[in-house]
Amino acid sequence: MFEEGQLYSPVTTADDGTVTVHLGDDHPGVNDPDYRARRNEIAAVSMSWSPGQPVPRIDYTETEHEVWRTVCEHIAPLHEKYACRAYRDAVRALDLPRDRVPQLDEVTTGLQALTGFSYVPAAGIVPLEEFYGSLEDGVFHSTQYLRHHAVPLYTPEPDLIHEVIGHGNLLADPQMAELNRLAGAAARRCETKAGLQVVADVFWFTVEFGVLHEGGELRAYGAGILSSYGEIEEFRGMQIRPIDFAAMATIDYDITHYQPVLFAAESFDHLINDVGAFFASCDDDTPGRLGVSSAASA
Ligand code: TRP
Ligand code: FE
Repeated sequence: MFEEGQLYSPVTTADDGTVTVHLGDDHPGVNDPDYRARRNEIAAVSMSWSPGQPVPRIDYTETEHEVWRTVCEHIAPLHEKYACRAYRDAVRALDLPRDRVPQLDEVTTGLQALTGFSYVPAAGIVPLEEFYGSLEDGVFHSTQYLRHHAVPLYTPEPDLIHEVIGHGNLLADPQMAELNRLAGAAARRCETKAGLQVVADVFWFTVEFGVLHEGGELRAYGAGILSSYGEIEEFRGMQIRPIDFAAMATIDYDITHYQPVLFAAESFDHLINDVGAFFASCDDDTPGRLGVSSAASA
């Protein structure tokens, strides 16, 4: 699970330079030729970028602006009800446009002033060690395409809405930004696939799908919950377990559906301290689903 090529649709480049995105059979846009052509077009732009160059802008269509508007409209009241306070404050601090799709460089401008993070395009599939490792430097690899307009409330594959409304807003909070940097440092400390998988799995159950207790209620801080106005209405009904890193690093999860098992921190401070301490100390000797790395890689 959470392998390269599973989280994001594979992208290939033909000899003549034609870029093709291969959507899975259950992707809402798989039978829409216009959507597929648009995905190919955006992928080609994202892939034209290389580090050090200015981040390319996408000329978003009215359909795409409309998807962004629809999601913002539905999700704002749900954030008030279900998102943790740090996230709600961060949304106000970053103050992204709600009436049109923002460009990655605009997200960077806002984050630079608050936490020093920057957004760069995810050019095709970003290898796990690159995606996580660069978080240590405050660099977030983001997709530039949007989910299909038929199903704005949930997408089986991360898109710009998830990266920006979920992660971007979170990265505007200084403590969450630091937690992401610690995850990045942990990823770079690991030299084995098994070690890196532990970082990815704990990241999954915290930064992506974490929840916490606040003011007597269960609230979400995970980017994957906060970007889906379908999933955000369901998380309180899921199986909620206390934070347990050994369990996070070993249980199986399906990345394409609502998450049935969630781990709750006792508070925002507990999350920052406990998960932060885990990322600060985990390494190739931390056991995970692939075993203890020294054994698994031998
Ligand atoms: N379901 C998320 C949304 O609708 C996007 C998403 C798909 C995602 N797969 C993910 C988020 C994996 C985090 C991890 O916004
Ligand atoms: Fe994510």
